[in-house]
Amino acid sequence: MNAVIRLENVEVCYDGSRAVAPTDLEFADGSFTSLLGPTGCGKSTLLNAIAGFVTPSSGRVLMGGAPVTGPGPDRGVVFQHYALLPWFTARGNVEFALKRFGLPRKERRERAAESLDAVGLADAAEKYPSQLSGGMRQRVALARALAAEPQVLLMDEPFGALDAITRARMQQLLRELWQRTRTTVVFVTHDVDEALALSQRVIVMAAGPGRVIADHQVADRPEPQPGEPRLHPLHPRIVAQLGTK
Ligand SMILES: Nc1ncnc2c1ncn2[C@@H]1O[C@H](COP(=O)(O)OP(=O)(O)O)[C@@H](O)[C@H]1O
Ligand SMILES: [Mg+2]
Repeated sequence: MNAVIRLENVEVCYDGSRAVAPTDLEFADGSFTSLLGPTGCGKSTLLNAIAGFVTPSSGRVLMGGAPVTGPGPDRGVVFQHYALLPWFTARGNVEFALKRFGLPRKERRERAAESLDAVGLADAAEKYPSQLSGGMRQRVALARALAAEPQVLLMDEPFGALDAITRARMQQLLRELWQRTRTTVVFVTHDVDEALALSQRVIVMAAGPGRVIADHQVADRPEPQPGEPRLHPLHPRIVAQLGTK
């Protein structure tokens, strides 16, 4: 595997209590992987260790072979709550995020316009977050992450706060963007259907403390035709592994 991210024996403790048990994982360049598991099983902690927001208590995270010591422009992050700055427009939010990479103003403008266009927000670029719907705000957050052209996109339950229809649209948009850019995606969710709809690989985690209990390759399948079962063939197995209904 041409691994872009490698976790070597990564363990995370908060104040002596273990959130993630020692874990080895690799993520292939250009792949789309979901981390799936119930609330509290350590998904965000693992993602934050890759993002560089959390330092492992032992073990290490490697990006392209180099140890991660903090956040970096090679890793874009999208959270459930968009964390947009209310006093900037959509364009302003994306441009501001690019500022810390030292890009000249003209290039920041161009990249912001391109990435807002890519998420379908070209016409809303001059709107403020308060003037945008939840789905549009999350598109801005996605544009902001993509504008830096990161090698890896880390997403923590990004569509969790959206209504079902908006969520389905955002899933489709993300799939299209991924197919176009082949950015490596690590996507955290507690929703089995979402994980199976989006990913090539589903890593199942369980609490007690955070550990990987299964690692599935997901075969691409065409949209189910009317009359065909909508559930992905892997669905029942994963539900059984999660021990829930
Ligand atoms: N900043 C923190 N300080 C202390 N404990 C935390 C912190 N963040 C998460 N935890 C604990 O670590 C465990 C894993 O949490 P988290 O990674 O947020 O799980 P998930 O994202 O799967 O819901 C939980 O028991 C949670 O209470
Ligand atoms: Mg979480």
